[in-house]
Amino acid sequence: MNSILVTGGTGYIGSHTVVAFQQAGFDVIVLDDLSNSSEQVLDRIERITGTRPRFYLGSIANQALLNSVFASHPIDTVIHFAGFKAVGESVQHPLRYYQNNVAGSMVLFDAMQKAGSKKLVFSSSATVYGDPGVIAYTEDLPLRPVNPYGQSKRMVEDIARDLQASDSDWSVALLRYFNPVGAHPSGLIGEDPRGIPNNLMPYIAKVAVGELSELNVFGDDYTTPDGTGVRDYIHVQDLARGHLDACRYLNEHKGCTAFNLGTGRGYSVMEAVDAFRKASGQPIPVRISPRRAGDLPEYYAVPDFTRKELGWKAELNLDDMVRDHWNWQKNNPKGYDS
Ligand code: NAD
Ligand code: UD1
Repeated sequence: MNSILVTGGTGYIGSHTVVAFQQAGFDVIVLDDLSNSSEQVLDRIERITGTRPRFYLGSIANQALLNSVFASHPIDTVIHFAGFKAVGESVQHPLRYYQNNVAGSMVLFDAMQKAGSKKLVFSSSATVYGDPGVIAYTEDLPLRPVNPYGQSKRMVEDIARDLQASDSDWSVALLRYFNPVGAHPSGLIGEDPRGIPNNLMPYIAKVAVGELSELNVFGDDYTTPDGTGVRDYIHVQDLARGHLDACRYLNEHKGCTAFNLGTGRGYSVMEAVDAFRKASGQPIPVRISPRRAGDLPEYYAVPDFTRKELGWKAELNLDDMVRDHWNWQKNNPKGYDS
């Protein structure tokens, strides 16, 4: 049986996707350097699926390692999650981001090309759109990312597009995720950020579990219904399923195509807090703070093209997201070190 190679497969979204592929009957190989994840994820995946994925410890930038992985296994498709993702850190250390996300991806693509393994699903982000001047994002908007992290994603999209244009055997799906949240319903895998979380849902979860005292709400004077920022949160389980649909699509379509993965509706910061309060029974104190630099008031995905082409549609709502995020957090108050 041909295998699926998942780079970054012990990370947050990668681990949920590995479970989805194993449960769909695929043989999954994980490559991760554990720079932002724990090896314990492999035990947890085994507990959920009954199968431990084969694991290579190392970087996508390690050419010799990649060549040996491709030489040892017939790899049908590569699902490429590996990379750094903290916007603020990318502004402080742009070279780290271009080195790991862009140069690393080039080493990976080169190894794929040499091995003749030319089906790729790439983790891109809604951040590639930058500030397009509309709130409903379609895939054909111009891409003008506003920070090095976003630039690195755009650059990898461009590289993949050029590669496919040079060799029509390549088929590439660029998946632009909106705001992934939630966890596997078992509570065995979930998001385990190191240090103080940058993103809303993991921050709320740490307030709910008592590790942080209150949530700073970054601005309540936006032109949104309740004045707080609006985003398209998407359950990580829906997202994982999107990768299966993308993988099937690549079997039938050559080319390089971008797809939004979002629900198509936005929720405000206060709606997310209220939903989390309800799910957890915890008070979740908030403090209204100044706006965060670089934040937009409101945006969400137009998922129509993805629905039409991939047959994919998000099925889980905000209550499902906070329920599963809370279930993971309360069962693992210190993440994988609990
Ligand atoms: P994550 O940090 O949990 O997972 C990334 C994984 O890649 C980690 O396990 C890390 O150890 C590994 N990694 C990093 N550099 C590597 C390298 N050079 N070689 C091998 N492994 C490496 O992040 P995530 O939230 O699961 O995100 C996965 C992908 O999705 C990333 O590319 C990210 O940019 C993208 N994305 C994430 C979000 C989000 O909000 N989580 C949104 C849009 C896009
Ligand atoms: C962030 C990244 C984006 C990435 C996305 C993935 C930035 C500027 N952008 O987007 O590149 O693709 O995550 O999930 O970091 N908020 C608070 N208090 C907090 C944290 C957040 O009020 O402590 C608010 C924000 O102002 C925003 C909303 O919650 O309105 C969501 O924030 P966050 O989870 O950080 O995601 P994004 O900013 O949308």
